[in-house]
Amino acid sequence: MPATVIVGAQWGDEGKGKIVDLLAQHSDIVCRYQGGPNAGHTIVVGSETYKIRALPSGIVRGKPCVIGNGCVVDLEVLIGELDEFERRGHPTDEVYVSGNAHLIMPWHVAIDQVSERRLGKLAIGTTKRGIGPCYADKAMRLGIRVQDILDPKILRQKIEVALAEKNLWLERVYETEPFELETVATQYEDYAQRLRPFVADTSLYVDTALRNGKLVLFEGAQATLLDLDHGTYPFVTSSNPVAAYAAIGVGIGLKRIDRVLGVAKAYVTRVGEGPFPTLIPEPQQTRMRELGGEYGTVTGRERLCGWLDLVALRYAIRVNGIDQLALTKLDVLSELAELPVCNRYRLRDGSETSEFPAHQSDFHAAEPVYEVLPGWREPLDACASIDDLPAAARAYVEFVERELGTEVTLVGTGAERERILSPHGVASVAGA
Ligand code: GDP
Ligand code: IMO
Ligand code: MG
Repeated sequence: MPATVIVGAQWGDEGKGKIVDLLAQHSDIVCRYQGGPNAGHTIVVGSETYKIRALPSGIVRGKPCVIGNGCVVDLEVLIGELDEFERRGHPTDEVYVSGNAHLIMPWHVAIDQVSERRLGKLAIGTTKRGIGPCYADKAMRLGIRVQDILDPKILRQKIEVALAEKNLWLERVYETEPFELETVATQYEDYAQRLRPFVADTSLYVDTALRNGKLVLFEGAQATLLDLDHGTYPFVTSSNPVAAYAAIGVGIGLKRIDRVLGVAKAYVTRVGEGPFPTLIPEPQQTRMRELGGEYGTVTGRERLCGWLDLVALRYAIRVNGIDQLALTKLDVLSELAELPVCNRYRLRDGSETSEFPAHQSDFHAAEPVYEVLPGWREPLDACASIDDLPAAARAYVEFVERELGTEVTLVGTGAERERILSPHGVASVAGA
């Protein structure tokens, strides 16, 4: 069973990077299929910490890495990451970037920033990396793609055409500075020279690998509840993190995907705006944030913390077809005497439901109904296997499995690479 999708099951930052790094050791290729440098994945290896935004997390293990057509690419960020990995002694010659991926241009970043400012109280709370404006241009068929960097004349022409329109918007609508053609064109010709060797037919590359029995990981960025179609719209990102998009975002047939591993924190966090039913009130909010070190990798913003939400997880299992779960950061809960877990929502009419509301206004008004599980108040540092977990920690994991009808095959007990428990072994989770 060679093709596994790893998908965030909450609002992002579940620890996907760490799980991908873990499974990459038993895999042959790691692919990103959507999103861009709005992602921030942290991987801790001994005294080294890697913060990755553009490259697939498999780069840390030295695996061939694919940036699929469904991604949006900021050349400055990607080149910065390639330079950094090379500097740190990690080869990058097996990085393949789809020619069909779209480029995040400087005006996308500028428009993301000014439009958020103009929205004021209604702002989405984006990462301001130009993600939404770039995907919007893709849908409008106005985008510049990675393959356009292969020919200097075409690249310059596309920049010129785009700027003629974008500068009008920037100056007249957003009342901000326009971009100068020469400056942007020269800058992008520099970037193009650096990135040209990495441009590839990634659909053909991944399909051929799968036909040859290679093990391929598809690494989701963002997460289910940030999905453009299935998330908490409009407080979502502008791509489709859900597992089905792995096929579209890399260019393989959907029947090639064998398994879907959902990654969920043992509690929940959210950055940016939008409803959050299980939000923890102060002063416990600040305590959880400190315990979990919940600050954004990309923006440094405080992440809001909430209790584990099984209604939302049940929904993530449904819309992704998740067949196993990784539960990360269980160690963070060690300090707490009691652990509320939300298993149902109470709706405006007083009825209770275990299914995620289909309509935004029902979700906005939903109140969490908690079951309070006992905490364990022991560190998990010394646990080498699931059986070593304190009884209450095991019961917490088993409660999740029972209520969701889905097996937890990985449990995170710390940020470091080796801090993971796996009842059946990591290789079996990777499909090896
Ligand atoms: P991603 O975006 O889903 O890859 O997640 P991030 O890397 O943005 O955020 C997860 C954070 O939790 C990172 O700082 C990880 O190093 C850290 N982390 C991952 N798994 C665990 C775990 O099991 N325990 C603890 N304490 N930290 C973890
Ligand atoms: P990883 O891959 C958490 C959130 C932003 C905002 C919304 C839209 O590290 O889990 P965007 O810049 O994408 O237009 O912002 O999505 N967001 C994330 N939240 N983790 C992420 O990525 C995120 N990427 C975007 O905070 O609410
Ligand atoms: Mg993150």
